[in-house]
Amino acid sequence: MKLAIFISGRGSNMKSIVQACENGTCPAEVVLVLSNNPQAQGLVFARSKGIQTCVVNHKDFKTKEAFEESILDAIDGIDIDIICLAGFMRILSAHFIDLCPCDSIINIHPSLLPAYKGLNTHQRALDDGKKETGCSVHFVTAELDAGDVIVQKTVPVKDGDTAEKLALRVLEQEHKAYPEAISLLAKRAHIDSPHIDSHCK
Ligand code: GRF
Repeated sequence: MKLAIFISGRGSNMKSIVQACENGTCPAEVVLVLSNNPQAQGLVFARSKGIQTCVVNHKDFKTKEAFEESILDAIDGIDIDIICLAGFMRILSAHFIDLCPCDSIINIHPSLLPAYKGLNTHQRALDDGKKETGCSVHFVTAELDAGDVIVQKTVPVKDGDTAEKLALRVLEQEHKAYPEAISLLAKRAHIDSPHIDSHCK
């Protein structure tokens, strides 16, 4: 199964997927890492692994439509079964999701969906006095953070937690949840996707 991973920054989830593919625990191959941020740290890791990378900077476009068209152009011709959003800080439109040639788009979200869609999930969980929180890998649909969940992992909220401490504890589980979700999808029905030449450098 061929994966494109979209990132915007650190890329630790991308790294965990690449490593799980390398050590054989995840039956997939990362064929592209795309970022909307030319400075994304994760790009450095991807390049060091010889993975094809591509930058489509949203700031270079006047409209979301033009930005997304450019992403579609960038992935056109690359054999991709699944797009994995991993800390990709742009919301993809229904138009992009419809036009995307791959089988599925999936995302990792730092909460136990359907709780805490959107941003600042850890602070919101703390403010609500939650005793546990976690992360979810889910299908991406036109509605934000609302697609079916593939894998969830829970973590305890501890006394004295801050949003930062909680984020680190959840992140450890994210690094397990994402490769697990991809492995589950790889076991699904046979995926058929076109082979065309790549445009990305
Ligand atoms: C993760 O916590 C992810 O759940 C959220 O953004 C963060 C990205 O981290 N959407 P990284 O770039 O994968 O290190």
